[in-house]
Amino acid sequence: MITSEAIHPGKSGAEGAQTAITRVGAVSKATRETGTGAVLFHGEHAKVGLRAVNDQIIRIKLFVGDRLDWTSTPAILAQENGEPVAVELSEQEGLYSVSFGRLRAEVATAPFALKIYDAQDRLLLDQQDLLWNQDGKAAFAAALDAQSHFYGLGEKTGFLDKKGEKYTMWNTDVYDPHVPDIEAIYQSIPYLVHFRYDRPAYGLLLDNPGKTVFDMRSYEDQYVLTMESGELDLYVIAGPSLKDVVTGYAGLTGKMPMPPKWAIGYQQSRYSYMNQEEVMELARSFRERNIPCDVIYLDIHYMHEYRVFTWDTNRFPKPKEMITQLQEMGFRIVPIVDPGVKKDPKYKVYQEGIAAGHFCSKLEGDVFNGKVWPGVSAFPDFTEDRTAEWWGDLHKFYIEHGIHGIWNDMNEPSVFETESKTMELDVVHGNNGNPKTHEEWHNLYGMLMSKATFEGLKRNLNGERPFVVTRAGYAGIQRYAAVWTGDNRSYWEHMAMSIPMVLNLGLSGVAFAGPDIGGFSHHASGELLARWTQMGALFPFCRNHAVLDSRRQEPWAFGPEVEAICREYIGLRYRLLPYIYTLFHQAAQSGLPIIRPLILEYPQDREVYNLCDQFLLGRDLLVAPVYRPGTSARAVYLPEGVWYNYWTGERYEGGRSILADAPLSVMPIYAREGAIIPEQALRQYTGESSSEPLQIHVYGDWAPGKFEFYEDDGSTFGYEQGAYRLTRLNWGRGASGALKLICIVAHDGLPQVEKQAVKVRVKQISERPSKVQVQTVGSFAQEVSWSYDERAQQLDIELSELGACEVSIQ
Ligand code: GLC
Repeated sequence: MITSEAIHPGKSGAEGAQTAITRVGAVSKATRETGTGAVLFHGEHAKVGLRAVNDQIIRIKLFVGDRLDWTSTPAILAQENGEPVAVELSEQEGLYSVSFGRLRAEVATAPFALKIYDAQDRLLLDQQDLLWNQDGKAAFAAALDAQSHFYGLGEKTGFLDKKGEKYTMWNTDVYDPHVPDIEAIYQSIPYLVHFRYDRPAYGLLLDNPGKTVFDMRSYEDQYVLTMESGELDLYVIAGPSLKDVVTGYAGLTGKMPMPPKWAIGYQQSRYSYMNQEEVMELARSFRERNIPCDVIYLDIHYMHEYRVFTWDTNRFPKPKEMITQLQEMGFRIVPIVDPGVKKDPKYKVYQEGIAAGHFCSKLEGDVFNGKVWPGVSAFPDFTEDRTAEWWGDLHKFYIEHGIHGIWNDMNEPSVFETESKTMELDVVHGNNGNPKTHEEWHNLYGMLMSKATFEGLKRNLNGERPFVVTRAGYAGIQRYAAVWTGDNRSYWEHMAMSIPMVLNLGLSGVAFAGPDIGGFSHHASGELLARWTQMGALFPFCRNHAVLDSRRQEPWAFGPEVEAICREYIGLRYRLLPYIYTLFHQAAQSGLPIIRPLILEYPQDREVYNLCDQFLLGRDLLVAPVYRPGTSARAVYLPEGVWYNYWTGERYEGGRSILADAPLSVMPIYAREGAIIPEQALRQYTGESSSEPLQIHVYGDWAPGKFEFYEDDGSTFGYEQGAYRLTRLNWGRGASGALKLICIVAHDGLPQVEKQAVKVRVKQISERPSKVQVQTVGSFAQEVSWSYDERAQQLDIELSELGACEVSIQ
């Protein structure tokens, strides 16, 4: 049992014991709730409801009073999706058993205790304790043991495996260096994945947007979730595999929509590019130096004294013209928008907000004021639909300037000169007639701001995809925004830490994430920038950003050697874009992350349970960044199978570590044997057209492989109506022993575009073929143009387009 201290941190002994602790107690009966399919266990002191969301997810809710309220927070996408789940309840000798489709809950009655099993009757969640006090604090404990590992938990410092750690979920603006013992930072995703190699994995979401604590440290045989206020509302997401848990969680909290393709390009930021000339000069530098870039950010100085939805016309006298010119050069502008609205009776946004009652207020009616960049400010109450709509539509201001992307910052919300760093806890959010105190809903503030922003942009963009990137968020944030990991520093340690941070964000639903490349505060060195750009170029969100008075860190800031490295690796991102874009599509479809910890693909390999100084881009590329200065080699762990050095083609047997050469100009990357990676010719921005062929790179000549290559227009929501193309590529040996690449157009919903020539490059093919033929539907096999490079052991085959066909190599 956990002690009362669990819900009275700091109060131990007599003081802690004084406050009465309550538990569910003995269960007198179990009843079926009509309409919801829920089963209610009537305990001495409370009821516990169990309810199926689908046959992979069970919801557990504690009801202390008489009211049975199943309302959930905006994190949850759907209560029930798919087929209704058959529920069966039985009782035997004081033990209830409820089957919810393929899951089963077992409830002991004296006192209440809950276990959840999967279809094969393997134990998932083993609840050990559940207690609360009259102040509304509560704790839930479940079993762990020596074999338990923990993942997820959103954006947290530390390594990949969260066992032995403790984290607080309370969105906080942390300017101090992000170190392992910082329990709370900008995002709060109260969700963990419990993994044991010999049991099915499961996820646990505590849907409580107030302050909660996830403690995997203090008890030897239990992990404990505590909450300060609000409701104990848990979702258990069954595996069996880690991937099943990740996709199950995404089904519950939503997936990201496809971002516009330009938002996947390289992005350049600084606090701040101070004026129009500086921005234009920056854009010209990128193009003159042939360093690809799609986006330039405007930090707070673009505004008139930090009033959102305004321009400082001294610094930016002709913003519209500037943006049009930039667009012609292939650049997009993304301006920052913070929630604080300057208290200024002459400022239209403030006037409107006050007149319509849009700002967060106390119960007594006083508008809450807090200081942020503009000075004393008011904060919109995004829990009210009408306020969210007002805020969203205010973005027409930016849209009219040609802006389709917004950067949401300070939305924890951060409030200066306060001890709590945030809004007062007794502010009451209207929530469309179902009010919540800020204490109860703090962690939702940032997400609801991004929701209002995303939806406002979407409403007003005539079918174009919006882009939002946010600092604060909660479970479900992926539906509205990408996430950057806030104010890191130009420390090597922060570069290294961003790998597990972004990997765990990916396991927590947020596939589109990344840190400030080069580090935000402190001062980058050329070596750090080179290494960080190499790594960041293969992260989902790829933005270089730095604080006001730090050393410049644009890719050319440290001379030609570092500039060349940045050019090469940013260029690599653009060459790999067809592959990366397909991974974005996979994330949008299934919720699987774009960059993955090795454990996701190799869960049986115990070497990888906490491996987080390397990662997989999709399933097929293994990336091993160098994250220490003065290093020209590093150990790389290659999991089972055969791997090829992406740069040299060298072949390695996996299941072991190798020492990789990594001079400053090289970040080790490996391709899995059987990998099929689509690449394109270099571009200076994602929308630049090119007459160069698309390339399909196939690795190795014996392991079979497959890839579903996705394409769409990159800018509209047409893909939701089927306007996309999906080409299934299968590689392997046919019955005759000939190598075959079979292309199947599984979906062809893209309007007819010009035929794009394709070069299939088979790497590490050990013998020169005698014949290469292509057969298309309804025609005979025909010899095609091909060439074989003996030295590189590489075969190039030219196709007129990537249509349905079979390429055979003999
Ligand atoms: C916050 C943001 C940072 C931004 C700065 C000024 O510190 O995290 O990215 O540059 O505010 O707007």
